[in-house]
Amino acid sequence: MAREDINITPSDRGNMIRVGIIGGSGYTGLELMRILLSHPEVEITAVTSRRFAGRRLGDVFPHLMHLTDLKFEDVSLESISNRADIVFTAVPHTRAMEYVPEILRRGCRVIDLSADYRLNTRVYEKVYGVKHRDPGRRAVYGLCELHPDVRDADLVANPGCYPTGAILAAAPLVRAEVVDRVIFDAKSGISGAGAEPTNTSHFPNLAENIKPYRITTHRHHAEMTQELRELDPARIGFTPHVIPAIRGILTTAHILLRKPVEPDEVEAIFDGFYDDKPFVRVGGIPDLASVRGSNFCDIGFELEEGSDRLVVISAIDNLVKGASGQAVQNMNLMFGLDERMGLMVPGLFP
Ligand SMILES: NC(=O)c1ccc[n+]([C@@H]2O[C@H](COP(=O)([O-])OP(=O)(O)OC[C@H]3O[C@@H](n4cnc5c(N)ncnc54)[C@H](OP(=O)(O)O)[C@@H]3O)[C@@H](O)[C@H]2O)c1
Repeated sequence: MAREDINITPSDRGNMIRVGIIGGSGYTGLELMRILLSHPEVEITAVTSRRFAGRRLGDVFPHLMHLTDLKFEDVSLESISNRADIVFTAVPHTRAMEYVPEILRRGCRVIDLSADYRLNTRVYEKVYGVKHRDPGRRAVYGLCELHPDVRDADLVANPGCYPTGAILAAAPLVRAEVVDRVIFDAKSGISGAGAEPTNTSHFPNLAENIKPYRITTHRHHAEMTQELRELDPARIGFTPHVIPAIRGILTTAHILLRKPVEPDEVEAIFDGFYDDKPFVRVGGIPDLASVRGSNFCDIGFELEEGSDRLVVISAIDNLVKGASGQAVQNMNLMFGLDERMGLMVPGLFP
């Protein structure tokens, strides 16, 4: 991308977009704050935290000190909806569906970062083992590289972090019908599990350690099969691991090919698919350090000589392209802005 390509033209909207955040004290809510505080066309009008209601954000989270005068507030859907054009729900799954119908009814658009609207109701209830409180509601799956119709959506279901890295690595090849089977081996930093401490996140258990979990049964498999629908679900494998890092997901996709391909064919497939997609960078060997803190998904690949295996690696920051950055990218599209606005920053290297 040339330097002049990162000049982003301001919109002629006139008004700022008024944003409310429900779940502002969690990792994705705080990441929304970090990104949106310097977004040129956004005014944050409400941020909730039940635990910290009434306290200034900067008093509770010093990295926000002197950057905002906002105070956390309790969840009042009426009050938040009156002050917002769009509300981000950055709360645990099963909680978002308690709020989303009412916010929409009050005329706000919603980007839900939880899993509540990513799958159809039947699949959701099976995978998450709960009854959906808002069954059948239509949402657009917010992986905008695959779903440009987020532009017209009132409700966007922001993708899961693992599915974002996995689907972006494999979708172009699956669509090009060269894939027989794919196995995603993914490693995630611990912030993927949210701000609540757990036995796994306890320092002595995590440091100098790598922990596989839900080896063949992780819920995010359902999103991967939904979005890579050309492949039978049984031909998509996924094994996640937690690594002693704070941010980032590195996914190694072992792709078993249906037919032989040459490296330049693979390159052409990726280039064709991501040509006009500013946050997917194809080339080189991706690593976490290059994307940490940024909205980029870096993708690289290598064909194994004399075999049917193509190895594709993707790297994202789970809190940015895997959550809040992607949510802001979707918001930009929903409000007719350049999708890069507020997001075009490099990773925190080193
Ligand atoms: N972490 C990631 O990398 C990541 C990536 C993609 C998607 N997600 C999804 O994004 C959502 C948020 O994740 P997170 O990691 O930010 O979680 P988190 O760190 O645990 O934060 C959860 C937030 O929700 C609030 N909350 C909890 N229950 C609530 C309720 N019933 N009503 C209102 N607010 C409530 C909490 O604040 P108070 O208790 O103070 O109100 C807190 O601000 C989850 O659904 C998660 O699966 C996370």
